Amino acid sequence: MERLQKVLAQAGIASRRKCEEYITSGRVMVNDVLVTELGTKVDPTVDVILVDGRPIRSQSKIYLMLNKPKGVITSAKDPEGRKVVTDFLPGVKERVYPVGRLDYDTEGLLILTNDGEFANLLTHPKHHIPRTYHATVKGNIHGNVLDKLKAGVKLEDGMTAPAEVDYHDINPDKNETVVTITIFEGRNRQVRRMFEAVNHPVIRLKRVMFGSLGLTGLPRGKYRKLLPAEVKALREEALAAAAEPKSSQNVQK
Ligand code: URA
Repeated sequence: MERLQKVLAQAGIASRRKCEEYITSGRVMVNDVLVTELGTKVDPTVDVILVDGRPIRSQSKIYLMLNKPKGVITSAKDPEGRKVVTDFLPGVKERVYPVGRLDYDTEGLLILTNDGEFANLLTHPKHHIPRTYHATVKGNIHGNVLDKLKAGVKLEDGMTAPAEVDYHDINPDKNETVVTITIFEGRNRQVRRMFEAVNHPVIRLKRVMFGSLGLTGLPRGKYRKLLPAEVKALREEALAAAAEPKSSQNVQK
């Protein structure tokens, strides 16, 4: 929680002193209530703050996609001082949060936003948004094993839901295989644990799609804003998946 005048100043409305005048002269509303007290504290990520009837800039929603490099924490801060995903967002003033998480050693597509409702919609376990990965795994993986992964494997937190799995690249010389896997759940370290369960540990893991959104063309360590159409499509996918009984029946523990 922060003082209202500080939040207004940080949003670029005016100097802090001027913002105090805005408040005392009745130009500022918080959650539909006129606020004239200078001591008022607000949470700019939750409270709706209007000056002269218009939302302040920090309230505008922002949606980004980052091609996360490996060796980076999916968090806004790290007490141990390791690199975090927000280090890769130069020029982004809004406080954004990752939508779900990728492991420290996983790279690829990560969405970040300050829209909490959107983030919840995409990560809600009932919504089953597909997440597609390229997994480079140890060994030459047999077709039977792919079938097992497709049907579901037993992990310590239960059976995995049916997944889509296919070869992406086979490299017998290096004794490794690249597999494309799409899962419809977001359990912790799920892809790595699935491949461990079939004795083909993951060497490298990259998320290439989240729902209909693909990573294509975005260099490693770079981000871009999502297009309004992309945000709309993701929202619709999550809502459609929530309304579809078939996909939820797929998920068994
Ligand atoms: N599955 C994993 O094992 N790791 C990730 O980062 C994402 C999915």
